[in-house]
Amino acid sequence: MKGIILAGGAGTRLYPATIAVSKQMMAIYDKPMIYYPLSVLMLAGIKEILIISTPHDLPNFEKLLGDGSDIGMKFSYKVQPEPNGLAEAFIIGDEFIGDDSVAMILGDNIYYSAGLTGILKDACKIKKGGHIFAYHVPDPERFGVVDFDKNGKVLSIEEKPEHPKSSYAIPGLYFYGPEVVKEAKNLAPSPRGELEITDLNRKFLDRGELEVTVLPRGLAWLDTGTHAAMIKANNYVQIMQEMTGMNIACVEEIAYRQGWIDDKKLDAAIEKMGKSSYADYLRRVEREAKK
Ligand code: DAU
Repeated sequence: MKGIILAGGAGTRLYPATIAVSKQMMAIYDKPMIYYPLSVLMLAGIKEILIISTPHDLPNFEKLLGDGSDIGMKFSYKVQPEPNGLAEAFIIGDEFIGDDSVAMILGDNIYYSAGLTGILKDACKIKKGGHIFAYHVPDPERFGVVDFDKNGKVLSIEEKPEHPKSSYAIPGLYFYGPEVVKEAKNLAPSPRGELEITDLNRKFLDRGELEVTVLPRGLAWLDTGTHAAMIKANNYVQIMQEMTGMNIACVEEIAYRQGWIDDKKLDAAIEKMGKSSYADYLRRVEREAKK
């Protein structure tokens, strides 16, 4: 299973904050936003990841994340010249995906809950077709929306419908078999000129090859679409971290606990983080692991 983080887009909804800095690079409390989706792919057990962003922003992601070897992973990078739609990620990722299944996550999507790892590992079993998620929201018209019958069978999938048929949004986390590349290449642009992930999912749905898992209500899927939503996400991470003494999306910790890096590499990461509270946290992780 390979992973893609799509971290491009114009970001104009957050201007002027995102004129010079990519949205996915902005801090959510104590770490860059992209650490959160990266940690999701790591918890799924995915070690090989392609990061896609704009020509302007991609070099900064490379500066931040490097080749991944610091955390026992393998990162590669590709440009998306224009924001032509989420499904374009699979065309850009053609060679990278090869004959493997692939998980794609949006670089501005934050997920957190107990039980998330199990849900992700389950989705990773995919060999063919698609596996997506549904999440109850108060404002489904802002998202892709999935509608179910009373037995949980999927009836329809629509992109930002004016009159949503349900309150279930489709979060930006998608799992597919390798044929997704061919399917993405066969998509036609939507009226707004984008290769829509929702059209891709509908293809799989029509063939009876789309699994939709409803995410549990205790799971947090945090919005980062507006300045106010970003503040809430910041507050959520701060409160959770301070209450539990455990950091959300600390990628070095995840790599260490999964045995992808040893003490030496963790020590190097601690050194690199300077006098930050992030470094203090990593020190504590190492100390507690050695008890
Ligand atoms: O967040 C989940 C939603 O993401 C889904 O429910 C929708 O079905 C899906 O279309 C998408 O909706 P958004 O309105 O959030 O899409 P947006 O255009 O804002 O793009 C989502 C992120 O992906 C954003 O950070 C920018 C980035 N992006 C977007 C496009 C269109 C790219 O990197 N490349 C692109 O071509």
